[in-house]
Amino acid sequence: MNPLFEPLLESAPLARRLAPGLCRIDPASGESCAPSHGLWQYLRLLGLALSPEHHAELFQRALDGVVPASAPVRVLVSGAADYAMLALVLAALGRRHAQVSATVLDICETPLALNRWYAERIARPIETHCGDILGYSSREPFDVVCTHAFFAMFAPAQRPALLAKWHELLRPGGIAVTVNRVRPQAGAAQVGFGEDEVRALCDAVRARARAFGPALGADPDALARDAGTYARRQRFHPLRSAEEIRGLFEQAGFLIEHFSLAPIAQDAQTGVSGPTVPGTSDYLRVIARRR
Ligand SMILES: C[S@@+](CC[C@H](N)C(=O)[O-])C[C@H]1O[C@@H](n2cnc3c(N)ncnc32)[C@H](O)[C@@H]1O
Repeated sequence: MNPLFEPLLESAPLARRLAPGLCRIDPASGESCAPSHGLWQYLRLLGLALSPEHHAELFQRALDGVVPASAPVRVLVSGAADYAMLALVLAALGRRHAQVSATVLDICETPLALNRWYAERIARPIETHCGDILGYSSREPFDVVCTHAFFAMFAPAQRPALLAKWHELLRPGGIAVTVNRVRPQAGAAQVGFGEDEVRALCDAVRARARAFGPALGADPDALARDAGTYARRQRFHPLRSAEEIRGLFEQAGFLIEHFSLAPIAQDAQTGVSGPTVPGTSDYLRVIARRR
């Protein structure tokens, strides 16, 4: 169990079981996201997935000053592969705010089922919403929107609409906090794992799963096969410039409070490269306040 209290050894098999039945079929490609949502938590257990915990300090800093201590706080998690962001938010706010209203939104039911499972386990009520963030609206505004690796789900032409949506969902003075990998060398086309990266990920999954031992509760060869399917399906719209994102926030009516570009801590980096693996890439970290 990691320090944020994430019972991954229990939720990883749950996600793997739920994903084939619950995951969404993309109407454009006809593909299900089950290979991703079903495997993600095993990848995290094996240290091969980059997730919000790698930038916990940024989220903590953003959440610390959002409303006065002990006041109620409303948080939206915008896109959630699993309950990692919820765990982080609740841990960060729990010390200072008795009343945290968290809503987790995703276009797929599997991450939401995992969030409900987690919330029930720790006896914290949450709301979940299954749908496209661009079509979401809320009667009450939020104090914070938290996102991780979410911009890459949107083509550059869609990003102004995403920023406008976060702006609409926040109260004046509310904040958006986000982390995204930046790839200055990328072209305009979508990126994924190269074939060498797929093989390296499969090998790393097999080796780490064997080293983990029986407590993992999954066959290393089967996980390695699933990792191959997962990696070959990944497609992202690369974020080519940090400045593009600064401009989008400012044009949407945000004031930038924190803007930095850096790799994750060296001891979390793996020898494996690939879009979703903790490696040596730079990550853009933004805290922006709604005017
Ligand atoms: C790359 S993951 C990032 C998840 C999470 N922040 C993390 O890293 O732990 C993106 C998630 O966003 C969801 N998603 C993709 N497009 C979306 C959209 N338009 N609206 C809402 N959710 C979306 C996917 O189903 C997936 O669970």
